[in-house]
Amino acid sequence: MSVQSLQHYCLAIPDLGIGRKFYEDFGLEAEDRGDHVALRCAGRNQDQVILVEGAVRQLHHISFGTNESSLISIRKEIYKSGTQLVDPPNCVSQDGLWFRDPEGALVNVRVAESAPWADAPKWQINTPGHCIRKGVRGGPPRDIVVKPRRLGHVMTFAANIQRQEEFYTQVLGLCLSDRSQDIVTFLHCAGGSDHHVIAFLSDAKRGFHHASFEVANVDEVGFGGRHMIAKGYRDGWGFGRHAIGSNFFHYIRDPWGGMAEYFCDIDYIPAGTMWEAQNWPAESSLYLWGPDVPEDFPVNFENME
Ligand SMILES: [Fe+2]
Repeated sequence: MSVQSLQHYCLAIPDLGIGRKFYEDFGLEAEDRGDHVALRCAGRNQDQVILVEGAVRQLHHISFGTNESSLISIRKEIYKSGTQLVDPPNCVSQDGLWFRDPEGALVNVRVAESAPWADAPKWQINTPGHCIRKGVRGGPPRDIVVKPRRLGHVMTFAANIQRQEEFYTQVLGLCLSDRSQDIVTFLHCAGGSDHHVIAFLSDAKRGFHHASFEVANVDEVGFGGRHMIAKGYRDGWGFGRHAIGSNFFHYIRDPWGGMAEYFCDIDYIPAGTMWEAQNWPAESSLYLWGPDVPEDFPVNFENME
């Protein structure tokens, strides 16, 4: 009984054209669907971001996928927790269960599988004692076009991250990967997934912090970030490496104060692994190395115009 994948997230934003352009510049492919815009990764048959119109930028909902029998169990767990199902929104596909989490954020669980994503060529890295790339140049061309392969995870703000951790593990069957004090908590899928498919960062109120997209390798993390800055977008933070989850990262600010992250090389937790969740010290909560954390990195811009 658990959700098995992160399917998509949906943002309400004041201007669909500006939002569409941001994510297209980020490397996703957009499709207008009348009252909303859907964005996908090249070569992947799955909506990853949905943009709907709203007066201010807000996280509209997050959608998880599971199978039919787990959906029945999750429905029971939702009722057991005292949570009410709500009517699905009109603007997007209404499949599955819709409810609000303890922070009041809209969540959807539907019967859906993760679509396969486009493979990247195996990255050949020479390291001391392991010279595996011989007679071939390693650096990519300067003008590579970075196209994310898939949505990896979403991080949201929550007023009570402990309560979120309990709800998402008990009701949706997610598992704790790691946490850092009362700052942040990371959850993965029981059936095997990245180190985190959802994470919660502590703040006075709920909100959207960032969503993260996998790219082929470290070069694409670096180039993706530089290309977005060259296009006039604000640097969010990077290039660096996280301690929790181990992924390399570069964050770019979206036009409304949220962020999109390029990542590669995240830890993977297979089903049945004896993964021991750690409570990391605060200094490791956000990163292992990289530029100093920008002052506004943990600021919640939700509901602000
Ligand atoms: Fe992230």
